[in-house]
Amino acid sequence: MCGIVGYIGQREVVPVLISGLESLAYRGYDSAGVVVVRDGELEAVKAEGKLERLVETLKGESLVGTYGLGHTRWATHGEPSERNAHPVMDSKGRLALIHNGIIENFLPLKKRLIDEGWEFTSDTDTEVVANLISSHLKGDLRAATQQAMAELEGMYAFAAVSTVSGQAEIVAARKGPPLVIGLGDDEFFLASDPAAVLAYTKRVLFLENMDLCRLTDAGPEIWDENGEPVERPAVRLTWDPIQAEKGGFKHFMLKEIHEQSQAIQDTFAGRVDFELNTVGFDDFALTPEEATQIQRVQILACGTSWHSGLVGKFMIEELARIPVEVDYGSEYRYRDPVVGEGVLAIGISQSGETADTLSAMEAASDRGAKLLAICNVPGSQATRVSDGVIYTHAGPEIGVASTKAFTTQLTALYLFALYLRQQRGMAIESELLSVLAGLPHAVAEIMESEAELEEMARRYSRLEDFLYLGRGINYPIALEGALKLKEISYSHAEGYPAGEMKHGPIALIDEDFPVVAIATGSRVFDKVCSNMQEVKARDGVVIAVTDRPAEELAEIADEVIQVPRSSDLLQPVVNVIPLQLFAYFVAVRRGADVDQPRNLAKSVTVE
Ligand code: AGP
Repeated sequence: MCGIVGYIGQREVVPVLISGLESLAYRGYDSAGVVVVRDGELEAVKAEGKLERLVETLKGESLVGTYGLGHTRWATHGEPSERNAHPVMDSKGRLALIHNGIIENFLPLKKRLIDEGWEFTSDTDTEVVANLISSHLKGDLRAATQQAMAELEGMYAFAAVSTVSGQAEIVAARKGPPLVIGLGDDEFFLASDPAAVLAYTKRVLFLENMDLCRLTDAGPEIWDENGEPVERPAVRLTWDPIQAEKGGFKHFMLKEIHEQSQAIQDTFAGRVDFELNTVGFDDFALTPEEATQIQRVQILACGTSWHSGLVGKFMIEELARIPVEVDYGSEYRYRDPVVGEGVLAIGISQSGETADTLSAMEAASDRGAKLLAICNVPGSQATRVSDGVIYTHAGPEIGVASTKAFTTQLTALYLFALYLRQQRGMAIESELLSVLAGLPHAVAEIMESEAELEEMARRYSRLEDFLYLGRGINYPIALEGALKLKEISYSHAEGYPAGEMKHGPIALIDEDFPVVAIATGSRVFDKVCSNMQEVKARDGVVIAVTDRPAEELAEIADEVIQVPRSSDLLQPVVNVIPLQLFAYFVAVRRGADVDQPRNLAKSVTVE
């Protein structure tokens, strides 16, 4: 997904743009470019490939100026190339535009503009926006942009600079993909994601859908979808710029795996009274009446966040005794779900910008559900459309593969299940909280086996197929372990309910098809052991994750990964850690681009 940065102030603009784009590189891209306005002229430099290519190209140019735009492109319309890279100019050379999203009606607009004499040099939908704005441009860039927005269909976040407006200004608009304004001292920033401005300011504001913003060195002016001037609240990010750097780790993903113990701690800090055995949130509340009125919960999410929803189902049903359904966002919105009164829809999203999840949340809300977001990014779209928000305090997650977002989502879901229990008049037993208090330590303890997991990954890194098995609350962890491996190492892996193996996958078992079996807890431990025996009886290879002494599994496992014992409901948080590390080290051995795996984006803001 594309990255947008803009700057206006006193600094030399190009270094600011490049550093912002480097912070957004994790979003995935295939070309990049910058534009500055100098002496009434637009000066743009673009390059296909990684940012290093753009930086190299810029060395031969003397791009100077104090305001401009930068962009990393993740191709949707038009192949990756310098020709299709942004910034894109209108055919009269009066404005430059950068864009994230998809213009759904770009073809009829392009045909009309061609008939009006506008020319096109790229295959992008973005160039249609540039020519469309220019076709309305009489001198006021904001007014021209407002007129163009009325004709655009689809999802977009874009920004433009122009030679016509006569003064230093950036005009930006959003409908779908996020845009954040960084509020510095007499300098202002525009970006797709707060990570790109953290090095300069922690004070930001988020544009709402259909907001139009004019940014000058006096600050932002914002108009809403009705063209009325509007203020958006500034928030102060608690993220530290260092957090958004690698902190000495080889990859963001490894840094974020190591951060999980602290992130889990940060997610329940201040929300649990271990004396009174109570749970509460500073930014979300349900009265006992509201909690009692909830008859059903529908969890809506994608990818790893959907896996956390599957775990949350166990937590909420066991602790609050409310039935829970879990749906992929992309599936929910295309069936006619039964919702109505008494349904609480929970949108789980690290980014808060996943288009499929947002659309599903909207569909649930349209059918009468109350909306709760479990999200990691303050001010993101999911948090703004919801009736309540429970933030995971994971800090910025830069690696495309979700790790600390996942374990803090599980922590937040556990807290929410306890809160529902409490508000529906059931006591929270102290052991339900003491096991939570011990979770950060249990997670930190597993990190001590990092070297063993790296060595194990070396032994298995050449194999192409893996099966991950789990039962009950560990089935979602089998799915998550498989997703981690496939998305960063490109080897095939699938998660399966252990009980289902004999209904098909057992046909695949041989010595080159390792089976990762999650054998923890008490309820289904013996059943999973039987599955492991079935694998061994067919010359299969078993890698077991267990909270039992290794010798107990010596006969039925080739490898044993020991994890600390937690409670049945929190054991998934513990069990996923070694699977994250295993996937990471396999990917490193296979030379994959761990933080920016091919074809993937950190947040899928398009459908
Ligand atoms: C998981 O490692 C992937 N990054 C992906 O499946 C991700 O979980 C999914 O796209 C949902 O993203 P969200 O949590 O930001 O909504």
